[in-house]
Amino acid sequence: KRHLISTADLTREDALLILDTAEQMAQVSARSVKKLPTLRGRTVVNLFFEDSTRTRTSFEVAEKRLSADVINFSAKGSSVSKGESLKDTALTLQAMGADAVVIRHGASGAPKLLADSDWLHGSVVNAGDGTHEHPTQALLDAFTMRRHLNPGVGHDLAGRRVTIVGDVLHSRVARSNVRLLHTLGAEVTLVAPPTLMPFGVETWPCQVSYDLDAALGKADAVMMLRVQRERMNAAFFPTQREYTRRYGLDARRLALMPEHALVMHPGPMVRGMEIESTIADSDRAVIVEQVANGVSVRMAVLYLLLGGSEPAITTSSANTP
Ligand code: CP
Repeated sequence: KRHLISTADLTREDALLILDTAEQMAQVSARSVKKLPTLRGRTVVNLFFEDSTRTRTSFEVAEKRLSADVINFSAKGSSVSKGESLKDTALTLQAMGADAVVIRHGASGAPKLLADSDWLHGSVVNAGDGTHEHPTQALLDAFTMRRHLNPGVGHDLAGRRVTIVGDVLHSRVARSNVRLLHTLGAEVTLVAPPTLMPFGVETWPCQVSYDLDAALGKADAVMMLRVQRERMNAAFFPTQREYTRRYGLDARRLALMPEHALVMHPGPMVRGMEIESTIADSDRAVIVEQVANGVSVRMAVLYLLLGGSEPAITTSSANTP
C-alpha cells in the first residue's frame, strides 16, 4: 500500500505488521544513537492546515530518526493565507521532490483527494482530516493497549473491551479507533451525550450506550475524548458542569473500573471537564505513554510506506546501545 488514509483500509495482517514493526522502532528509540539510515535522501513534508502538538512533533521526530529530510509546512504563515489552493500547494511540494506528505486538514477527505490526485507522486499519510479519521492515532492507541493488555509480537486485542467516551460526533480518533479495534478483535462501546453521538452510529461495528457508569465495569481500557468546541455551533455547547457530571471521569467512576483498566486520552485534554486532573496524572493513566508510542508507530508507518524492503533492525547488535 502506498498511502495511509483510513484504518478501514487495514487488514488484521496490515495492522499487526505495523504494530510489530513499531515494537522494533521502539528498540531504536531506546538506543543512545536513535537513528536508522532507512529514509536517507528521501523528503517528507509535514503539511498541517490545522493546529497540532503531538501529531506534528512526533511525525517530525519519527522522520528524523529514519534520517529523512523534513519540511514543515504550516498553513498559517504560508501562501494558503493568500488564497492558494490545496492543488497548487501540492504541486509546489511535488516540484520540490516530496517523497511523502503527512497531511492534517480541517476538511474530511482532503488526504484522500491528495492520494487520488496526480498532483503528488509520493505517499500520503493522513494525520487527521476533519471529523473523518486519524489512523496513526488509532494505531498508537492499539499499540499502547496491546503492550498492557496482550503483549507480544503477532498478538491482537481479541476479546479486550474498550470504552470510548465523549464527543464522538466530532471525533476522528473515535472513528479510526472503532474500525481498527474491531479489526483487531476488540469489543468497543461508545458512550456520548445523545447530541454528540453521530447519526448512523448503529451501523458501526460497536455497542452504543448513554450510561457511562454502566459501561465502565468490564472495560479493559477507557478512552476519554475532548469536547471539540471549535467544530460546534456555540448554541450546541454542552455546559461544563452538566457534561462533567454525566460524562466526566472522576474518582468515583475510576473506582467502578477494573483495577487493571487503562485510562487513555488522545490529547489535547481539557482537565476538569472530561477528565479530573488527578486521574490524568495518576499511574492508571497511559496518556504520556501514548505520546511516546506515537513516535514508534509513525516511524513504522513511514518505514513500511517508503523504505520497508529491508528488516527494520537487521542484527541483534544493532539493538545494543
Ligand atoms: N492527538 C492529537 O492528534 O493531538 P494533536 O492535535 O496535538 O496532534
